[in-house]
Order: sequence, then C-alpha cells, then structure tokens
Amino acid sequence: MRTDDDSWDITESVGATALGVAAMRAYETRRDDAVFQDPYAEKLVEAVGSENWSAMLRGNRENLREAGGSYINGVMGNFLVARTLYFDRYFADAIEVGIRQFVILASGLDARAYRVEFPSGSTVFELDLPKVLEFKANALVDETPAADRREVPIDLRQDWPKALLDKGFDRTRPTAWLAEGLLRYLPGDAQDRLLEHVAELSAPGSRMALNIGTGERALSDEFRKRRAEALAQNGIRVDLEQLWYPWEGRTDPRTWFAMRSWLVREGDPVALLEERGRTVPEAALPDMRTHILMTAIRPRGDDTL
Ligand SMILES: C[S@@+](CC[C@H](N)C(=O)[O-])C[C@H]1O[C@@H](n2cnc3c(N)ncnc32)[C@H](O)[C@@H]1O
Repeated sequence: MRTDDDSWDITESVGATALGVAAMRAYETRRDDAVFQDPYAEKLVEAVGSENWSAMLRGNRENLREAGGSYINGVMGNFLVARTLYFDRYFADAIEVGIRQFVILASGLDARAYRVEFPSGSTVFELDLPKVLEFKANALVDETPAADRREVPIDLRQDWPKALLDKGFDRTRPTAWLAEGLLRYLPGDAQDRLLEHVAELSAPGSRMALNIGTGERALSDEFRKRRAEALAQNGIRVDLEQLWYPWEGRTDPRTWFAMRSWLVREGDPVALLEERGRTVPEAALPDMRTHILMTAIRPRGDDTL
C-alpha cells in the first residue's frame, strides 16, 4: 500500500519497477534482432546481486522463445521497447534542435546519460530517490557518462525545483524534460504540481516527453494472472496495481499542456515497433493502445514537432 511519504531502495516497492524495466532493456539488447542497444541495463540488473533478478534476466530470454504471447511478449515487453525507441528519438531530436540541458525525472536505471551521444557542453540532471541514485552510481562507477551528469537525490513529491536549481539547472536555457514510467506512481495532485514546476522552469523552446497508462480496466484478468505468475516464478512479488495511483480523476497530460499553448504530439507505440520490423502480437494491441506516449513543446514562435 502506498503512503504520501513512502520510500524505497532499488529492490523494493516502486524501486523494483526500475529494475523490471532495466531487465526488459537488457533482454532487448541481447536479442539478435534488437531494435536498440542499452549495454548498461544488464550490468545494472546484475549489480543487485540477487539470484531472483538474475533469474528474471534468464527468464526473459526463455519466455521470449515461448510461442503464444507470453508476458514478456505481450503488452509490457512491447510497450517498454516502443517507449525506449520513442524517448531515444526524443533525445536525438532535442539534440538536433540545439538543446543541451536535459532533466530526467525519476531516472531509475535509465542509462541515457551514458549511452546517448551528447554534444560537448550537454548537462543531464537525474532526479530520483537517494537510494536509487546511489545504487546506480555504485553499479556504474567504472563507466564514464556521455555528458555532465548531475544527480539530484529527491522525492518528486517534495520541493524538487529548489534542489534542481541548487545543482546548477539554468532556467533561462531551453530544456528537454523526460518523465518515463513515472506519472502513475504519483497521486494526481502530485502529478499536477510536477507539471506546474516543469512549466515554470521551462524557457521557450523547452520540451517535455512522458508516458502514462490510462487503462487498468482494460487489463484482462488473464493478463494480470500471467504477469503475476511470470514475476512470481522468479521470486519477485511486485503488484503494480498496488503501486499505481488511479488514472480516474487525474489530469490528462495531453490536455494539460495543450491548455497552456504547448504543441502536443502523440507517438504510436505500435507503429514505432512496426517501423522497425517488429510485429506486435494481436493480443497485446488493445492494451498497448491504452498507453499515452507524448511530447509537448513550449513554442519559441517558429517551433514545430
Ligand atoms: C518504472 S521506474 C522508471 C525508471 C526510468 N524512468 C526508466 O524508465 O527506466 C519508476 C521510477 O520512478 C521513481 N519514482 C517514483 N516515484 C517517485 C518519487 N515520488 N520521487 C522520486 N522518484 C520516484 C522510482 O524510484 C523509479 O526509479
């Protein structure tokens, strides 16, 4: 059960979801037909030193070979791959238009600060709970970030703008913000405050990319059962529905940004995969479509997406 001031390390509660998505990225990276490469993901998962999580990596490989749309082959695996592609492209586009300041909200085990080709002069701020950032820094101690990477250990339900500014964030420069796999872990009012802060700190030309699942009701009992079984087989008991706050009553971020005159464009996770030659199993399609993938740009006057 969630509370307003709960916290976690990388193997517990919401922290374990960061490990789960890193495990998926590790799996994708090892596929013969991988559509992206995240060479840090496996190292991060293995750094937990837990047989359960290592088994999860192995389990992913085996599950994927199974016929018939396993958990990993279903909505979670496909959506996570699609969203990685989408946000990787978002970073590339932001770099191309000259943005050099990046803020990853709830960075978890996202290794983009290491794996994206940032031009010199780029800064990447990573915000997450202290224990999550500490785990990642220890696991990647031998690696060199591809940008000036600055950690901001903070709870995003607290006064994170002050902490970000204290680390040298420059509110006069256009910024590319990312909230990947975050919003459903925040209550609706905390999401509103987070978006308000992002808007206040965004110079013209800034942009924000995010995803959010809208449809717990769309998840079939069968899907939930398979997901729970796949995780439990590896000794991992993470009940996502217990960690997520509801979609109902929450502001739709597409409307939120559009009402503030930001240009909003949505990504299509299925099309992103198909463009790369990856066929999404029929059974996963309805759930894939319950996820919003979007980018919003605060116009400078002549911006288009
Ligand atoms: C599903 S993981 C996603 C991590 C990363 N963005 C990615 O896609 O790989 C969720 C992350 O949100 C972070 N998180 C959730 N609520 C948070 C909060 N209130 N403050 C800071 N971090 C939070 C967790 O610690 C975790 O790293």
